[in-house]
Amino acid sequence: MSASFEEVRARLAGIRAPGSGKNLLAAGMVQGLEVSEGQVSVRLARGQLPPAVLGSVIAQVRRELASLEGVRGVDVQVEAGAGDRPVSAAESGPIAGVGDIVAVASAKGGVGKSTVAVNLALALSARGLRIGLLDADIYGPSLPTMMGISGRPRAEDGKIVPLEKYGLQLMSMGFFLEDKSPVIWRGPLVMGLVRQFLRDVRWGDVDVLVIDLPPGTGDAALTLVQQVPVTGGVVVTTPQDVALLDVERGIAMFREVDTPVLGVIENMSFYECPECGTRDEIFGSGGGAHIAERFGVPLLGQIPLLPAIGESGDTGKPLVADEPDHPVSRVFAAIGARVWGAIEAARTPAPKILV
Ligand SMILES: Nc1ncnc2c1ncn2[C@@H]1O[C@H](COP(=O)(O)OP(=O)(O)O)[C@@H](O)[C@H]1O
Ligand SMILES: [Mg+2]
Repeated sequence: MSASFEEVRARLAGIRAPGSGKNLLAAGMVQGLEVSEGQVSVRLARGQLPPAVLGSVIAQVRRELASLEGVRGVDVQVEAGAGDRPVSAAESGPIAGVGDIVAVASAKGGVGKSTVAVNLALALSARGLRIGLLDADIYGPSLPTMMGISGRPRAEDGKIVPLEKYGLQLMSMGFFLEDKSPVIWRGPLVMGLVRQFLRDVRWGDVDVLVIDLPPGTGDAALTLVQQVPVTGGVVVTTPQDVALLDVERGIAMFREVDTPVLGVIENMSFYECPECGTRDEIFGSGGGAHIAERFGVPLLGQIPLLPAIGESGDTGKPLVADEPDHPVSRVFAAIGARVWGAIEAARTPAPKILV
């Protein structure tokens, strides 16, 4: 027997809306509800809830409804709230406890942006820098899986304290959603949510905050770059010809908001046979060199396509942390060195040339 509309409603009425003393229904947080043959769709209003609190409401709604007999699946959609308006200049100022910010972008998903962000953060950390890593991809937060970490960060004086692993300070919307089911975020919500999320965190004096941007060069990524004082951007790509167009878009995004591009990282550059050590340039060689030539930004490094890289991310043991002497970890170390050099150069204003 499928759960009835009334049973589902009753469950929602049993969940307290944070900060209001009322239940979700009475507080007007449920904007829409459909129940059809055990499939439940709930539309929630974000209202003024901070992202972390919203995350736990979503998790609670899922948990409560999923445990109801006759419920097969739960879809949660969240509508934008009052906090999701365009940003004002005052909100784009420095972030407490954060030195430099490096934003990692890619024009599309699946190119290994998160893998690169995680290992780059670890490589910078290995240089003795204090590093924060923010997973700003709220559509598909992958940081908890990649770092093998879960659990709820605690709040202190209204700020969220990052979790720590492998020496990094970590924050991800994934920490608040509890499971991996995607949440559908609607309208301008993403921008407001990520901005607030970023500023709600108590970063503990990190030298560099690495941000794994939402995928793509659309509004979500662009607004984020605009709204935080990014020292420089890094574009991750794969080396096919079409990817050059993607790089162009990534670079254009940063330039549109006057953010220096530190360089391009080419991922899945070639296949290195683990047994024989031979290189098979599956996408053709030189893609990255073209980039430097064509766009005037450095190629920071090329990461091979290697099963160990994928596996290390899937098992929560990033390569650079787990096998620091692995040849690819050394590639990341070299990339880390170049990124750090580029950060320092981007920070220092170019010397005036007197004629
Ligand atoms: N160099 C690589 N070699 C092999 N697998 C990789 C490599 N880089 C990423 N992967 C794998 O590819 C998939 C997509 O990577 P991910 O970092 O999640 O991409 P994105 O963040 O761009 O969507 C993951 O399963 C990851 O483990
Ligand atoms: Mg990702």
